[in-house]
Amino acid sequence: MKALVIGGGGREHALAWKLARSPKVQQVHVAPGNGGTALDAQLHNVALTDPAALADFAQASGVTLTVVGPEAPLAAGVVDVFRARGLRIVGPTKAAAQLESSKAFAKDFMRRHGIPTAEYRTFADAAEAHAHVERSGAPIVIKADGLAAGKGVVVATTLAEAHEAIDFMLQGNRLGVQHNAEGARVVIEEFLDGEEASFIVLTDGKTVLPLASSQDHKRLRDGDRGPNTGGMGAYSPAPVVTPNVHAKVMHEIVQPTIAGMAREGMPFTGFLYAGLMIDAQGRPKTVEFNARLGDPEAEVILMRLKSDLADVLLHAAHGTLDQVSLQWDRRTALGVVMAAHGYPLNPRKGDAIDGLPPPARDDAEVDAMVFHAGTARADDGRIVTSGGRVLCVTALGESVKTAQQRAYDVLRPIHFDGAQWRSDIGHRAIKPR
Ligand code: AMP
Ligand code: GLY
Repeated sequence: MKALVIGGGGREHALAWKLARSPKVQQVHVAPGNGGTALDAQLHNVALTDPAALADFAQASGVTLTVVGPEAPLAAGVVDVFRARGLRIVGPTKAAAQLESSKAFAKDFMRRHGIPTAEYRTFADAAEAHAHVERSGAPIVIKADGLAAGKGVVVATTLAEAHEAIDFMLQGNRLGVQHNAEGARVVIEEFLDGEEASFIVLTDGKTVLPLASSQDHKRLRDGDRGPNTGGMGAYSPAPVVTPNVHAKVMHEIVQPTIAGMAREGMPFTGFLYAGLMIDAQGRPKTVEFNARLGDPEAEVILMRLKSDLADVLLHAAHGTLDQVSLQWDRRTALGVVMAAHGYPLNPRKGDAIDGLPPPARDDAEVDAMVFHAGTARADDGRIVTSGGRVLCVTALGESVKTAQQRAYDVLRPIHFDGAQWRSDIGHRAIKPR
């Protein structure tokens, strides 16, 4: 069969790489792909992003399975367009993707269904938002309502920071947030204390299959300092998700969400990502929903997936996930993101990347992969930076420590000007002695 992966980041490189390893799959197209998917002989980049053009391409080239990586095509309704033409695709409809595309929708939904999350209020008026933070005090969290690639959130530790964030989001829109129909709005919410984890499931609207747990590192710099980013590294499994926490998340968050969306006439299909905050007593609350796999979580999760991804996704698209059980490598996978100079606000493009390892043979046992994200193949064949997060260097190891050592060993020879990466990915899972 032929498969199509929509998107061009590290998550999509990992999805395409994993699909290409399936004996069922003859060819994998990636739209638009990146420098890494261009280099891989088994993958084929297609320069398309428009939903109708993608559906035309899938029909014309005999693609029988499509999977969507990022939020933007989901919010643009690519799943609706494919389904209307009878094309099989894994992802939520535009209506269901509102769990991610509108924070206000997600928060209201959680309130209606009693799903644990932070207290919040939504504001379009800056003066009212300012007055609200004055009354509430700091720390407090200010979020832009709309798609901002993980950057539209300010965890304000002082009132001054909170006021600045409100002006920044409601007036300047210097973050480049893609607003919803209601225009610029902010969600202001209670600060939650605890440890974060990413809990991602695959669902056909009825059966829910939890993927391996993982943990992202949202802040730019070591020690969880600096601005929020789309994610600077991840590892799987996340020890904070104990069997007890896992059961609570399924029972209190995931199952009520899938059931609630179905009851409201917007059955959710595809990958649902619950970003969790787990307190010291092991009680999970939902920080956010994403209507897709996380990035860089997908890279570490897919490194550990032993099942045939094409087979799993076909069942998801057919509505027969009840016939699937997922098999995982018991080792830890850990991924370190190398980001461009100026990331997250002003990433620089066009820096040449040197020292990349040669691509692995497709039949070899792979214990390390350099997934490409913001890269492009220049006319002279060189790989250059072309986005904020450039690479995700991912490795497997018997422990978090050995996976970490291996990932940094693979990373060390890779060079581009201005590269930024954290040197402490996995720190929460490595016990101090
Ligand atoms: P979001 O885009 O909603 O996932 O927010 C990005 C990051 O901001 C999260 O991963 C958390 O680290 C942090 N954050 C968001 N909401 C809260 C909250 N209510 N309390 C504490 N931290 C938060
Ligand atoms: N790594 C966080 C996300 O994909 O939203």
